[in-house]
Amino acid sequence: MALHPDLQGILINEAQIQARVQELADQISRDFAHITNNLYLVGVLKGAFIFLADLARHISVPHRVDFMAVSSYGITAHSGEVRVIMDLREPIEGKHVILVEDIVDTGKTLNYLYKTLLGRKPASLHTCTFARKKRDGVDVPVDYLGFEIPDEWVVGYGLDHADTHRTLPFIAELKREVYSKS
Ligand code: IMP
Ligand code: MG
Repeated sequence: MALHPDLQGILINEAQIQARVQELADQISRDFAHITNNLYLVGVLKGAFIFLADLARHISVPHRVDFMAVSSYGITAHSGEVRVIMDLREPIEGKHVILVEDIVDTGKTLNYLYKTLLGRKPASLHTCTFARKKRDGVDVPVDYLGFEIPDEWVVGYGLDHADTHRTLPFIAELKREVYSKS
């Protein structure tokens, strides 16, 4: 199948993604092997839904999943403040929580969510993100990182541009002229 004309090229292919997700899941399964029924994966919608679905199915220790949705004020993803538009169904006090995000860019979203969840007194709080952009001035703790990627707009595997390209099974770079317009 030909690549969509808005896409520059494939950055991470499906096999690479699947292999890395399996590794992350193995690592999490080892690190939380002692947790018997208190592990919660918290996925951030919409971007993390595919990553979380794959990751969760490879984690061999018992766990539950819950979701939050956030949105940024302003037009672009990194222009402003973060706002929770859908909260967790369950309290997380006393639970071992892994916050699962799609991508860290400026770090604002993950920072905000980390602080918000920490305030609810979980037994432990870790972060897992599929990708992180290489850029300066970002200081957010990522405990489980899938891929470090260049500072370009990427889509696929849950990640979107204006809600498109989200369900591609690989990560592709968007052409610059496509995202500099919007
Ligand atoms: P941050 O708050 O600047 O770290 O931005 C994080 C959020 O912006 C992520 O949760 C994504 O929803 C979105 N985002 C940042 N970079 C990209 C990208 O390259 N593709 C798709 N979404 C992105
Ligand atoms: Mg997101």
